[in-house]
Amino acid sequence: MRRMGNPNRRKEHWGSRLGVVLAVAGGAVGLGNFLRFPGQAANYGGGAFMIPYLFSFLIIALPLATSEWALGRRGGRMGFHSPLGIYYAVGGKSRFWGILGGLSALTPLVISMYYIFVEAWCLVYALQYLGGLLEPLGLGFSLLDGVEPGLKLGAETGGAEYQGLFERFIGANGDGSLFKGGLSPLLLMTLACAFVNFYLIYRGVSKGIERFSKLVAPLVLICSLLVVGRVLTLGNPTGIEGQSLLDGLGFMWNPSRDVVLESGEVVHRTIWSSLANPEVWLAATSQIFFTVSICLGATCTYASYVRPDEDIALSSVTSTAANEFCEVALGGLMAIPPMIMFLGAQAADKFGSSFSLGFIALPNVFERMPFGEFFGFAFFTLLFCAAITSSISIVQPTLALFGDSLNLSRTACVGLTCLVVLSGTAFVCWFTKDLAALDAFDFWLANFAPFLGGIFQTILIAFVWNISSLRKELDRGALIRLPRFFGFVVKWISLPYLILIFAFWCYKNLAERLKGVAGSQVAQLSLLYMAGLAVGLLVLSVIVVRKWKREESAK
Ligand code: PHE
Repeated sequence: MRRMGNPNRRKEHWGSRLGVVLAVAGGAVGLGNFLRFPGQAANYGGGAFMIPYLFSFLIIALPLATSEWALGRRGGRMGFHSPLGIYYAVGGKSRFWGILGGLSALTPLVISMYYIFVEAWCLVYALQYLGGLLEPLGLGFSLLDGVEPGLKLGAETGGAEYQGLFERFIGANGDGSLFKGGLSPLLLMTLACAFVNFYLIYRGVSKGIERFSKLVAPLVLICSLLVVGRVLTLGNPTGIEGQSLLDGLGFMWNPSRDVVLESGEVVHRTIWSSLANPEVWLAATSQIFFTVSICLGATCTYASYVRPDEDIALSSVTSTAANEFCEVALGGLMAIPPMIMFLGAQAADKFGSSFSLGFIALPNVFERMPFGEFFGFAFFTLLFCAAITSSISIVQPTLALFGDSLNLSRTACVGLTCLVVLSGTAFVCWFTKDLAALDAFDFWLANFAPFLGGIFQTILIAFVWNISSLRKELDRGALIRLPRFFGFVVKWISLPYLILIFAFWCYKNLAERLKGVAGSQVAQLSLLYMAGLAVGLLVLSVIVVRKWKREESAK
């Protein structure tokens, strides 16, 4: 088979099989596992969320992750590493698939822009705990104005102080507030995080990403086990009925429960009434896309660096399972049960979103927990470490895109990627009022785009490339044999399920969202900014695909 792609690039591969699995799992395990998952589970009633979630894991995560690995390695064997090149090569060198692949690079690009910003929040919170946010146990410094070490914020005010602190910290009270009076500590940390990301991708997949992932994985595991160990040994810390460890676990796993409505009326939600709510299914599927990093450009890019005859079947299943363990067993235990134990079941409604849960409810919990300042430090350190291995996996597809399509040196490609990503990060850091820009980016690219991307990618794999080629690719160097019905599931179960959910998703959310866009200038600006990026990608893809076609016919 003849290699295509950029002939001026040196070939890059992962160093070892363990390295690939750790890098892919490190890319998947991130803020989605420890913030988004508990936030979604709390928002959709804990146990009621878990059934559609596990269902989506079986019919979306496992089949699509495995086929995306195969797609990526096939593209890599043909000399491509970006979604643009991979789609072009595997889609029979067609213009249509090439351009579609180029456009799909928008998803990781835009997610990386705000992910780095949130990563910096985690770093600042970790440092605040190290400085001794709550007790004089820490080193006695503070990065934030008006926050002295040894502060007690939440106990009397029910968390309102933490909310104020968090909103001031991220600039939620006004656009441009992070830039007032010079660079705020948060902006400096955002730049520091960006620097680490770009340095690591500059070092390359095996010397940068793989080595770093091997280093960070044990740290994430140790910090998680420390926090989980603490949670499991708390018993009933407040002595209030209904707030024991078992109640916390029950919230997470029991699909039927009593819910107190705003009016004070108590209704009993059965498992069936929860399952009949289609919104829970939508939320669960979108969580699966985000957490496993499928159909978002990252997994196929990483898989394209796997050596041609190395196993992908076992590796893909292992990394997907590792991500799930971190999400359900660790992320699920770390956040929701302690919140229920210290703040009661009604806190799930009040703090049922990723950011409120992580940055308002949990600091409030740590304050009440014995040695909470230490566990707060462990929790935010773990978030930061997990976030950084994920953000490199989100930035890499953009670097690969420039590497595949432009005749530039590696340094120039990293510089260009850095410039594009930081322009969007600056946009998000400026429009911080109510986090409107971040919310718009997240809604369109982390909730809407993955469905669309998933549908097209599965059509490409199942119908254009076809199931027997997929199987052949998976069997190359395979350490396990996947069951025969695997291809059938991808083609006839995963794809129709995705189309159904997406149609329903549009029906439920689109009109309301568009109404919201009409009423918000920042949402319109954000859409305009994303549309500008999409046009840029479209032009680049058209030019590059045309060049590849010309080169093909000249041969
Ligand atoms: N899966 C990552 C997380 O859970 C996020 C991510 C999204 C990574 C898109 C790569 C691509 O945080």
